[in-house]
Amino acid sequence: MTAAPTVYVCTTCKCAGAPDSDPRPGACLAAAAEHAAAGTEVTVRRLRCLANCNRGPSAAMRCNGSWTYVFGGLDPANARDLIEGARLLAGAADGILPWRGRPDILKRGLIARVPPIGFEGMDE
Ligand code: FES
Repeated sequence: MTAAPTVYVCTTCKCAGAPDSDPRPGACLAAAAEHAAAGTEVTVRRLRCLANCNRGPSAAMRCNGSWTYVFGGLDPANARDLIEGARLLAGAADGILPWRGRPDILKRGLIARVPPIGFEGMDE
């Protein structure tokens, strides 16, 4: 099974507290992420809403067997960070995005992480 790192970008996000604009900041982030992913093993998928609207622009990332990470407060300048993070996650044997080496926006902007299917819990 390949890692298949995938970044999901919400195209309908606007910046928190900002009026509507066209194109939406989320759509700009998606386009920038697609550009940043060109020539890499990372796939970028557009979607509408990650239920993080009040803290957008939002994106998520996952790989086969990994935890899923949701981020907020992003902007198009963070596109390369998203791709770099997805590649870091793809190389993580435990499926957990390493803190060390993680782009700063993927530390500050972390909203949630969700365990993979088949996860059976952790020792306390
Ligand atoms: S509109 Fe982007 S998370 Fe809801």
